[in-house]
Amino acid sequence: QRVVGLVARALPDRAPDPMLDRKDAFAGTPLSRVDGPLKVTGGAEYTADVAVPGLTHAAMVCSTIAGGRIESITVADAEKAAGVVLVMTYRNAPVLSPAPTLMSFTGASFTDAPMMQDARVRWDGEPIAVVVAETLAQARHAASLVKVTYAEDPSARVDFDALKSRARRPAAVQGQRPRMTKGSVDEALRTGDVVVDHVYRTPRHNHAAIEPHATAVAWHGDDSMTVWDSTQAVTHTQMGLAKVFGLEREKVRVVSQFVGGGFGNKMMWNHQVLCAAAAKLSGRPVRITMSREDVFRVTGGRTLSEQRVALSATRHGKLSALVHEGTTTIGVDGNGFAEQFTFPARVLYAADNFVVDQRVLELNMVPNASMRAPGESIGSFALESAVDEVAEGLGMDPIEFRRGVQPDKNPSSGRPFAMRNLMRAYDLGAARFGWDARNPVPRSHREGEWWIGHGVASCNYPYVRLPGAKASVRIDSDGHAVVRTAAHEMGMGTPTVQVQHAAARLGLPVEQVRFEYGDSELPAGIPAGGSAQTVAIIASVTDAVDKLVKELLKLTRAGSPISGARPRQVELRDGGIYRKDGGPGISYRELLRAAGRDHVEAVGAGSLPLEMMKHSMESFGAQFCEVRVSDVTGEVRVNRWVGSFDTGLVLNPKTAASQFRGGIVMGLGQALTEETAFDTRRGRIMNPSLAHYHVPVHADVPPIDVVWLDIPDPLAPMGAHGVGEIGVVGVAGAVANAVYNAIGVRFRELPLTPGKVL
Ligand code: MOS
Repeated sequence: QRVVGLVARALPDRAPDPMLDRKDAFAGTPLSRVDGPLKVTGGAEYTADVAVPGLTHAAMVCSTIAGGRIESITVADAEKAAGVVLVMTYRNAPVLSPAPTLMSFTGASFTDAPMMQDARVRWDGEPIAVVVAETLAQARHAASLVKVTYAEDPSARVDFDALKSRARRPAAVQGQRPRMTKGSVDEALRTGDVVVDHVYRTPRHNHAAIEPHATAVAWHGDDSMTVWDSTQAVTHTQMGLAKVFGLEREKVRVVSQFVGGGFGNKMMWNHQVLCAAAAKLSGRPVRITMSREDVFRVTGGRTLSEQRVALSATRHGKLSALVHEGTTTIGVDGNGFAEQFTFPARVLYAADNFVVDQRVLELNMVPNASMRAPGESIGSFALESAVDEVAEGLGMDPIEFRRGVQPDKNPSSGRPFAMRNLMRAYDLGAARFGWDARNPVPRSHREGEWWIGHGVASCNYPYVRLPGAKASVRIDSDGHAVVRTAAHEMGMGTPTVQVQHAAARLGLPVEQVRFEYGDSELPAGIPAGGSAQTVAIIASVTDAVDKLVKELLKLTRAGSPISGARPRQVELRDGGIYRKDGGPGISYRELLRAAGRDHVEAVGAGSLPLEMMKHSMESFGAQFCEVRVSDVTGEVRVNRWVGSFDTGLVLNPKTAASQFRGGIVMGLGQALTEETAFDTRRGRIMNPSLAHYHVPVHADVPPIDVVWLDIPDPLAPMGAHGVGEIGVVGVAGAVANAVYNAIGVRFRELPLTPGKVL
């Protein structure tokens, strides 16, 4: 790692993509979703829709204790129930290797704990039996007949407050050191002109995608299977299942054409493994379609957090100390991952002295998963609340205070920013929002029962490049092109923007380009995570097209207008390959016909992102909101929103705006309503339904205005950063700051429900 870093720093930066000069060929075009008609007419096939001959249906039985052992499990009644094909428990399940984790890049699981291999219970909700029947109703009924007794472990770890002193520093936090320091903060915290030092708490959150997780598995003989899965990690689910069942990777095919929402946990959990195991054992294809309750119990969500932020400022508006430390949770045996709640503090502000420090506490609960801007969203709530309080203490406008503490390089890594236009994003957003008209005096604007307030917060999200993405590009002799990669469409517009990009790069109209995805038989994809998929595919396609140009030149006959040309002397436009600067050339159709070929194809891979070892690459933004707080009920409503983003070049303004808005809506849930109720005596989730776990509904969402700077990152493919996650970040902080402006009270624990606010 160190050597690679040294080498990377010595290398010159790559030249910017020449396509950036032709970015107007597609960037900025609000192409509607190419898969939109299929989705709105019911033609899109989701995992629960896939027709498999002879399909059976499975229901899971989940444990009702948080830790201990199964003492007895009686399946006779279930086995006798109508339609039942199989009841699988740890006593008859096939031998299964642990699932490799997502964090190891060799799988897609958040846990490598054994699945149904022993009598141990690791969390309340762990699947302990699978019942397979001819219909789903029969399976669910028979599952209710399985009788279990337990030997409960009295020392099961379920109560965060009682155990938090036993938290430990993890080995790494998303690849960074858990603790980083500069100078010493103690003196500054004693002597600052304005010092704030508070503890902030955020609750557990569960995933609530519209489509619950689903998997179907059909074995072909003993040694190969087809898996249909609602997943954001096609290739890595393939690798993971192959490992679990001891198969060659090629013997597992994973298909995932459409995913009804995925926010970080449509990865691998027990259900895919158990579905495949039950299909193997029963000799029948099996599908598991999760109930909403299953989603809460079997798949992980966001960890709770307890965070301390301490800031010390001089009266001139500089930070002499910045402390952000605290604790999150993971599952037992180190499963789950340490959410990076200190990442905003490592990037956003210049301070003479700082400490960031993260700890994790193992609990007997379903291992936490990534959930849209995992640590950044909850970390920014604490940090941005404290920054607002410091600005208030200094009598400064919160935007002007932030302007004065902008670092000239990354404060924690010391690397220069490849691109950082945070204050320009503030200026753009402030003008849209009308920030100048804000009354800075808290509790000074009332309309009837409602106090009105305005708040602002920064957001940031790292630019992530995951290794391993490949894509193929093929041009057929009829002049159409096909781009193929095992990527994912979860609602964000993947095929749409990829068709746009490939069409522009190949010089074809979008109607002549098709994008094939969602199948592990295609060139390997990365997990759709870290807001990294779009740019990773663009990098692979760019490489494939560069190779294709060489192939096309090789196929060129003597006498052709491009014969003898070098790759850098030609360009792809008007459905063919032409000499640069308006020179002569030949259409793909004619070239392939003359060469007697029905197609030409090349496979590309994104190059190593060495630029990330020299530069700090981040996206930034500013969130503005107006809230009203009821003096009667304590209810907080959001009146309007402006999000202003610095995420590089925006490729498709329509799909990108939807991504930003979707993130902000999720942030509103985090700010106001979402909270997993967890029984701290029993370790059981008590609100596993959307009736009791409150996600924002339309009536909770105000008009959301999103704007962006559209300044390309010179070091990123097509100058673009991912936009899937940054929208959540800063939302809860902006709401909390607006609530303070409305009623003059600081709330440091999410969500801001009426019971707390009144
Ligand atoms: Mo995102 S939480 O990396 O799907």
